[in-house]
Amino acid sequence: MRDVRRGSYNGRRRLAAAAFATLVGALLSGAAAAAPSAGAVLPIPAQVLPGDGAYHVGAMLDVRVPARDAGAAAAARYLAELLARLGGPACDVRAGRPATGAIAFERHTGLATEGYALEVRQDGVTIAASSDAGLFYGAVTLSQLLPPPGSPAELPAQRIRDQPVYAWRGLMLDSARHFQSPAFVKSMIDWMAWHKLNVLHWHLTDDQGWRLEIRKYPRLTSVGAWRLPAVVGPPMPRYGGYYSQREVRDIVAFAATRHVTIVPEIDMPGHAQAAIAAYPALGSTDGPPPAVSARWGVHSYLFNPDAATLGFLEDVLAEVVELFPGRYVHVGGDEAVKDQWRASARVRARAHELGRDDPEALQAYFTERMGRFLAARGRRLVGWDEVLRPGLARDAVVMSWHGTSGAHAAAVAGHDAVLAPWPTLYLDNRQSALPSEPPGRTRVISLEDVYAFEPRDPTLDDAGRHHVLGVQANLWTEHIRTEPRLEWMALPRAAAVAELGWSPPERRRWPDFIARLAAFAPRYRALGLHAADSAFAVDARLATSPAGIEVTLANQSRFGEIRYTTDGTEPGPSSARYATPLSLAPGTELRAATFAGPERIATTWSRRLDPESIARRGTGELELCTDGVGLLLEPRRPDGGANGVVAVDIMNPCWIYRGAELGGGASISAAVAPLPFNYELGADLAKVRIGDGNARGAELEVRVDRCDAAPVARLSLPAEPAAATLAAVRLPPLPGRHDVCLRLVRPALEPLWAVEWVEIGE
Ligand code: ACM
Repeated sequence: MRDVRRGSYNGRRRLAAAAFATLVGALLSGAAAAAPSAGAVLPIPAQVLPGDGAYHVGAMLDVRVPARDAGAAAAARYLAELLARLGGPACDVRAGRPATGAIAFERHTGLATEGYALEVRQDGVTIAASSDAGLFYGAVTLSQLLPPPGSPAELPAQRIRDQPVYAWRGLMLDSARHFQSPAFVKSMIDWMAWHKLNVLHWHLTDDQGWRLEIRKYPRLTSVGAWRLPAVVGPPMPRYGGYYSQREVRDIVAFAATRHVTIVPEIDMPGHAQAAIAAYPALGSTDGPPPAVSARWGVHSYLFNPDAATLGFLEDVLAEVVELFPGRYVHVGGDEAVKDQWRASARVRARAHELGRDDPEALQAYFTERMGRFLAARGRRLVGWDEVLRPGLARDAVVMSWHGTSGAHAAAVAGHDAVLAPWPTLYLDNRQSALPSEPPGRTRVISLEDVYAFEPRDPTLDDAGRHHVLGVQANLWTEHIRTEPRLEWMALPRAAAVAELGWSPPERRRWPDFIARLAAFAPRYRALGLHAADSAFAVDARLATSPAGIEVTLANQSRFGEIRYTTDGTEPGPSSARYATPLSLAPGTELRAATFAGPERIATTWSRRLDPESIARRGTGELELCTDGVGLLLEPRRPDGGANGVVAVDIMNPCWIYRGAELGGGASISAAVAPLPFNYELGADLAKVRIGDGNARGAELEVRVDRCDAAPVARLSLPAEPAAATLAAVRLPPLPGRHDVCLRLVRPALEPLWAVEWVEIGE
């Protein structure tokens, strides 16, 4: 199934302290009775009990840790670092007995692993835990409770008892399709920890790149880490990168300071094309060796099951276990289409020798053998749910991506399982249909969709439920080329994942979560994180009417107040509040933004309302006719300047312009851009609509009301694959408003064309 523009806050980097206090106050007014002061903690703690009075937060906090307690000292230093980054009070961290007013870290046996108790009294604050991780999470919670300097410096007295529901609270990072810098990986680990996420599943190998230095096999990275990007037009320089073992050790050491376990993934027997490009003898065909792929989708190259190849994979895993000290090693196992194995006499003979004539049983042999190798080194194998086959070692962990059924089946069979289901926890799906979304998949998985995922499986008995280790969201990066975009796709949905993994179900309530998240917007900014504002951003719908231009404003989460101006000024907390659709004169400069109390929590939307600009709709304002493989792609080459984003169903490139006024006989024009058709679709390739026999060259067929009606007009595309504005053609007059459908027909798969905008006007 894995087969995708940045927006950013343009506000002040640091929130004025007074505004923060009012904001949190405004946000908490609803939830305060239930959970005083825990309102801005994320994930929500298991239990918060109000106390009497308040703790006065001074400009310098006296922080005390027990003597010779390295874990407590590390947690205290982390608190100091966090507060410095968040613009909070300074900390004086020392070992010794706490004086009155101090923030004291203490050891208490009897608290659950990763759990902590945090007590705020008038005369001080205590963070107690039995484990280093518990003290660390107590520090995280306190960093979220404490306001920045200058705010009302009273922290209400309270007692928090907290511990996670699940031990596995993960994110998967695909560094194979696109490579991220070691600094980015560390930053991700850092913000994960601040959300109490504790597993980074690191997808290091795939058809498009091998990203981990393996000393014994240098070609894996000298060859396998580089590919020639698929582009229309002149070739681009090779793309790639890899992590040296020194860099990996540094990242692993950093992760340990954040209580994050890294689970490396070496995908096998499929997703192996980059490795086979480096060492063709690992493959299952006798044909010419493949290149490292620049295509997306499910590839056919599989490792062969020869003794030499299995030995190679064990050599690789031997270096992997040296590098990664965690208990788990992921060996992939997904999407291994067996065509090459079936076609190869050599593979069939080997399968027969192993007593595994059935290709699925042969894959199971792979998994069993790697599982034994890992078990002998004290590690547990993790695999995608395809590894769940008879013979799978009892302690293997099954990662459920085919919805939740893999986890269910695994748990029933007595295996531990992790929930990472497509589509809800696949964060390459865009989070809104706003034009500000970066490339990804066009399916919308909103913040609320993620939050609504329920990890508890009511059909499992207690024993089965204990096998569910936790939840994980996956960041596949085929279409996520840059680090800021990756952060945008991850945050704030990762905050929802964190709460699913950490907080008890009875504490999880969407209205409360979204209010706490709004209070996080300034914190994300303070930490320099490019979190998406999609849940709060203004979504404007415009329509011309005899009275002027009608504007409907909304936002996805229905949280906060939308305020607007019509005089070109930036909306503020006392600007007019939007309640019902506005009817405005042509030429009006409309600006609107969402506020939570005094704080703007999303980028300001602005537009000059002239009928021409309303007649032109960007690709994001059009609908796709079908939902085959819908992607948001960058038609402009990364080396070619500004990057717009287009939405296209690669199986059927077709767009709908809803509600066009055709009474006066309108004209239609469009801008198009060519894209490479770099998809591995297997048998589905036959389903891609290219031309219905049309051989005259590429064009957009225009239909009215129904996409299967006879075309009423055609817009010709240029003969050369280059971005172009197409000459306008007239549409037949038809009274009233109509949906207009534009479908690409082309003589060949290459290039694919996408519509950048369509204009239907006088
Ligand atoms: C997967 O998405 N192929 C695990």
